[in-house]
Amino acid sequence: MANYNFDEIVDRSGTDAIKVDLLKERFGSDNLISLWVADMDFKSSPAITEAIIERARHGVFGYTCASQSYYDAIINWLARRHQWQVEQDWISYIPGIVKGIAFVVDCFTTKGDKVLIQPPVYHPFRIIPTLHEREVVDNPLRLEAGVYKMDLDDLKQKISGAKVLILCNPHNPGGRVWTRQELIDIAEICYDNNVLVISDEIHSDLAFGHAGHTHVPFASVSEKAAQNSITFMAPSKTFNIAGIVSSFAVVPNDELRERFYSYLEASELRDGHIFAYTATKAAYNDAEDWLDEAKAYIWQNIQFVDEYLRANIPQIKAMIPEASYLVWLDCRQLCLKQEDLVSLFVHDAHLALNDGTIFGQGGEGFMRLNVGSPRKVLEQALNNLKNAINNKIK
Ligand SMILES: Cc1ncc(COP(=O)(O)O)c(C=O)c1O
Repeated sequence: MANYNFDEIVDRSGTDAIKVDLLKERFGSDNLISLWVADMDFKSSPAITEAIIERARHGVFGYTCASQSYYDAIINWLARRHQWQVEQDWISYIPGIVKGIAFVVDCFTTKGDKVLIQPPVYHPFRIIPTLHEREVVDNPLRLEAGVYKMDLDDLKQKISGAKVLILCNPHNPGGRVWTRQELIDIAEICYDNNVLVISDEIHSDLAFGHAGHTHVPFASVSEKAAQNSITFMAPSKTFNIAGIVSSFAVVPNDELRERFYSYLEASELRDGHIFAYTATKAAYNDAEDWLDEAKAYIWQNIQFVDEYLRANIPQIKAMIPEASYLVWLDCRQLCLKQEDLVSLFVHDAHLALNDGTIFGQGGEGFMRLNVGSPRKVLEQALNNLKNAINNKIK
């Protein structure tokens, strides 16, 4: 029985939500259906909201520490949901995963060092090292029969001299949940070449296990992976609480941990805040049923989009994600230049999606659709798109 109403349309305007209140700035118009930034339009779990309200009612908001119950919530979650046994001192709060990536880049590399990424991939993987004046080296994914695969031969050719590989596990925007074997292979190559792996696992809780896609934490696949990686996770995507900023790092290797956590401590970056701790505990202890229902709803949204496109817009193909609520749309059969494709979505269909080219090599001809919205909103968006394309073709 459904306990939560994901069909509810929540007006987010005026809440300073990037997804809604920055439309004009980013897309030139307010009058668009917003399906870009990776957060969901659903209310989060009531268990989280209630925990925050209760803490707020206390009224005293002094300095706050990461309590035993905070660590227990994370340790139990990782054991229960991902069969990953971690030790308490491996864990540290971090103020966001993109910032975490920047900290690793700053701590473990110097200007001009090579950082490997696997495009098309979440754009800060390229932007952050570039802003830190590191050389970003592309190890592009290969699209085989509509499924992204890692190109390990290309990686072996390019890895010499690199310092870090940023792994997107699961992958955004391609939606792949990497298999244990794929991760073992990456671990082997990186360890043997002294390349530290950052495993960004922000989308891990949203893997569609019922469809055979089980998230495998990178550090759990082998000793080489455990000893040569820094993993970032968060309840932020999982429970739609990105604005609360409640991420954490897991570092099993003693030397890496000592170096990284000393670096963070030098700027007090390991200190979280009241609502991060409160929300993380409520999420991992009391919101599992909400997550399972949210995932079922998202999965139905994905099927809805896929069926709609097949029936009405066969020139656009949805890549069915193995995790999360981001659907990579292959629009190459429309045979439009990228700027015309973007203009079709924004100006003709009144839709705000992410332009595929921001994700780097391999993104041309693609758009990224966020399906973390009520189905009615998606239906309206797809109707707009169908009409825009029909008008163009006429
Ligand atoms: C792969 C990936 N990493 C990190 C983030 C953002 O994480 P944070 O808000 O903690 O910086 C996102 C958000 O879309 C993402 O998709």
